Amino acid sequence: MCPPEYFAVEYAINPWMDTATPVDSELAVKQWHGLRETLLGLGHTVHELAPEPGLPDMVYAANGAFVVDGTVYGARFRHPQRAAEAAAHRAFHEATGARLVAPAEINEGEGDFAYLPRAYGGLVLAGHGFRTEPAAHAEAQEALGRPVVSLRLVDPRFYHLDTALAALDDGNVAYFPQAFSVAAQRVLAQLFPDAIVADEVDAFAFGLNLVSDGRHVVLNNEASGMAAKVAAAGYLPVPVELSELKKGGGSVKCCVAELRD
Ligand code: ARG
Repeated sequence: MCPPEYFAVEYAINPWMDTATPVDSELAVKQWHGLRETLLGLGHTVHELAPEPGLPDMVYAANGAFVVDGTVYGARFRHPQRAAEAAAHRAFHEATGARLVAPAEINEGEGDFAYLPRAYGGLVLAGHGFRTEPAAHAEAQEALGRPVVSLRLVDPRFYHLDTALAALDDGNVAYFPQAFSVAAQRVLAQLFPDAIVADEVDAFAFGLNLVSDGRHVVLNNEASGMAAKVAAAGYLPVPVELSELKKGGGSVKCCVAELRD
């Protein structure tokens, strides 16, 4: 995670970012701390990535790398405003002695990659269409030695995979079908017949931008319909308030980079 410090960024790369709506930075920091406390309270270890001046989107820590079983596939951001974030993530992982793979292709880390260790022996799902290049999917497969399934995103409001699909546990997902191409919808239905299928209301409330440890599903408190669906499927929904972070186009998952170690 990365504590929020700067939010007043202006660039039209994300339809959720309405720069006419000011962000209450104090409240944003408070909400971020609430998320941190929630994860700690559930027994997880939380490392903080120090924010850097000039990198307002660093709080969306999910985008800086993608880690699978000790191998870190680095990010290479599409937009110059975020480019320098990749080095901060790299430095963090270097210090842990992890195996690092530097990317040649544009990709935004866990924003567009999800990992399901127990689906088909270990499966990576990867989004493209807005940020990550399809060539990065092949590169990730080479780096990580896991099959990577490419899924095309078609709605700019769901510009990262993690706005439209989430790993609920080691083997199952929740997703919003309409964010994907018809072919990708078919692929998902084939791979995950037991998936939780979200509707438009769930997806617009950022209900899929969640973090799950396989039992607790931490998600945006506005996504009450999604909370009910995960509860009906046997998980424990843990709502958190992140309204200020949503103004920057992200929620729970965007703020958390999973280390999987
Ligand atoms: N403002 C950020 C961007 O447009 C939001 C990133 C959200 N992160 C995520 N994992 N979806 O890049």
